[in-house]
Amino acid sequence: MSLMGFLDRVADNASFDKVIEPARRAVLGAFKPPVKDLLHGTWLGHALHPVVVQVPVGSWVSAGLLDAIPPLRPAATVLIGTGVAAAVPAALTGAADWSEQGSGVRRLGALHAVANTVALGLYVGSLAARKKGRGGLGRVLSYAGLGIATGSAAVGGHMSYAQSSGVSHAATAIRRLTTDWIDLGPMDDLPEGRPALRTGAGNGDDVPLVAVRRGARVDVFVDACSHLSGPLHEGAVEEIRGSQCLVCPWHGSAFDLDNGQPRRGPAANPQEKLDVRMEAGHVMARVPGRHR
Ligand code: FES
Repeated sequence: MSLMGFLDRVADNASFDKVIEPARRAVLGAFKPPVKDLLHGTWLGHALHPVVVQVPVGSWVSAGLLDAIPPLRPAATVLIGTGVAAAVPAALTGAADWSEQGSGVRRLGALHAVANTVALGLYVGSLAARKKGRGGLGRVLSYAGLGIATGSAAVGGHMSYAQSSGVSHAATAIRRLTTDWIDLGPMDDLPEGRPALRTGAGNGDDVPLVAVRRGARVDVFVDACSHLSGPLHEGAVEEIRGSQCLVCPWHGSAFDLDNGQPRRGPAANPQEKLDVRMEAGHVMARVPGRHR
């Protein structure tokens, strides 16, 4: 069986959920806004986990190279300690994201977390061995940790690249839209201050859009939430932290109506917003230049 086939079997295996679900509920209960949004990277407009994991991964890979050169081994020990310390925020950001993903990604995420915990334990053991002067054992433990951390990184990559964890689902949807101006009908047909479903011509099929009218202003977004494609037209308009936001009905992500930036997670990516103009009382929308 190929590595990808093995990972797909893990993602399909619902029997893991007996263990995973209590852990997920514990994480959901432990992380509340604003800490939760801090960990997701909502404030940054980008997922935080892939940013912070650079520190432990980079430190441990570098330590592996320095350990191969005897005079540089003391520096390797410093880097291993740096990686151990940095593994804590990496784990916290990953746990926050993991708790609000789909079931298949959660199963792979559990495997990713277990492997990372084993790698971390090996590195802590390596530090302890080095401190006692047992450098040979320390290097064996740290190289074993590096091997497991590398395999775990492959699992994390599979979650993102093969299972779309952490990517913007709205960006995928907007690329299917025509690049021409789309007539969304008369502005007067839109309800005031509530999301309304509209559609735009796509490559082969129509793409759902969501329009929100506020007086003479209309904001139009891709309907599929950037987090996991929740239907934003079934959500609501609310004021979040001083901004009028479109709130997703699935996990509560809130996107600023003015610019699509997330004001509340779990979404870390902005919601794709279309350019809008009025023509003879009709709302006309078009994908922004970066997608044309
Ligand atoms: S789909 Fe999760 S917040 Fe929208």
